[in-house]
Amino acid sequence: MAERIQVPRGTHDVLPEDAARRAVVEAEANRILGGAGFRRIETPAFEATELFARGVGESTDIVQKEMYTFDDGGGRSVTLRPEGTAPVCRAYLEHGMHKHPQPVKLWYFSPFYRREAPQLGRQRAFWQIGAETIGSADPAVDAELIVLLSELYEALHVGHVTLRLSSLGTPETRRDYREELSIYLRANAERLSEDVRARIDLNPMRAWDSDDQGTREVMRTAPRLLDRLGGEDAEHFARVLDLLGTAGIAYEVDPTLVRGLDYYTRTVFEFTSEALGAQSGVGGGGRYDGLIEQIGGTLTPGCGWATGVERILLASGGQPTAEPPVDLFVALAKEEMRVEGFRIVTEARRAGLNAQIELAGRSLKGQLKQANRIAARWTAILGDEGATLRDMETGDEEVVAPEAVIARLQRGERSL
Ligand code: HAM
Repeated sequence: MAERIQVPRGTHDVLPEDAARRAVVEAEANRILGGAGFRRIETPAFEATELFARGVGESTDIVQKEMYTFDDGGGRSVTLRPEGTAPVCRAYLEHGMHKHPQPVKLWYFSPFYRREAPQLGRQRAFWQIGAETIGSADPAVDAELIVLLSELYEALHVGHVTLRLSSLGTPETRRDYREELSIYLRANAERLSEDVRARIDLNPMRAWDSDDQGTREVMRTAPRLLDRLGGEDAEHFARVLDLLGTAGIAYEVDPTLVRGLDYYTRTVFEFTSEALGAQSGVGGGGRYDGLIEQIGGTLTPGCGWATGVERILLASGGQPTAEPPVDLFVALAKEEMRVEGFRIVTEARRAGLNAQIELAGRSLKGQLKQANRIAARWTAILGDEGATLRDMETGDEEVVAPEAVIARLQRGERSL
């Protein structure tokens, strides 16, 4: 036998049980986001590498080591999308959406790719639901997005979520702060982890993210960005917090919150769930007022979030999902009834009923067992004497002509 080929490391198949649960997640996202005026967008699975290099940021882990980048065969470098915000902003620009009434609200349910070390909740190919509101700097945009994500978690029974948020201010505040932080880190360099030390110039903010004991101690007395915000940024953040309070959303202000992407300005936030293991981040996002300019547009504010579909499923503790109900199972008392059965099942489907027919050559007893297994509401047993219609809930039976099965069911369905 030839060697079996397996799914690539860090990827998984979505099997039918899973697909049903994911369909519920997608439907809830559609209900909640669609209801708030978000419209669906889908961008390509790969983009020009430059989009992520400029958008996500050269110094991020994503761009430095996690992207699947390849030559498209024509000398152009393309990358499987590691995230959705830069592509959505690219599409906003490319399709002149700045001419639409602002803000433009978009959402997606799509696969993304990052070459990360796989573990529970961390995959190399994973799905995100994302929402982006582009073209308004109003703090109500930030608050609305956060409330909607919180509602999505509630609707999907994502357990024990905590919301942490912070503000990164403007790029200028951040630049000054980075300088201040670098000086502080350099002064304490010998107590920092090697990794953090190596990145003092490239990305000193990463020090906040470190698990290293020495680094954590150094960070305890480090200057905090939240204390350095300018007047308007502080006002913006206070408004966001106010609105969250109005909406009854519990939150924790966490000045140490850093996100793994460079485009954020002002508000950043993250939802974690205790139901997850080490990869406890279930969703996150923030404002990215400079991103569109960075990828070639005019200065346009934006804010959004993304949440991992697999992490939602892990954290929602295997909520059962209903398979579509089966109205009719067509059983054959003998194989000669196959053609008649095929006609009935086809007609039933055309009449809008969910119908299935025996396809595995089971005995009649086996077929009735199968009808029970799929919880069929009715079974039509086709035999010499016609069609015996069995009500699978009561066990009542009634013999009708094969061509009368659908009409009889429709009457029966109505009287239920
Ligand atoms: P992110 O924090 O990198 O943000 O990812 C958002 C969510 O995607 C995470 O909270 C997690 O649930 C899921 N996720 C990320 N990486 C993986 C992985 N390797 N395996 C499984 N799930 C994963 C962004 O992607 C930003 N684009 C969010 C955003 C939108 N900011 C503004 N707008």
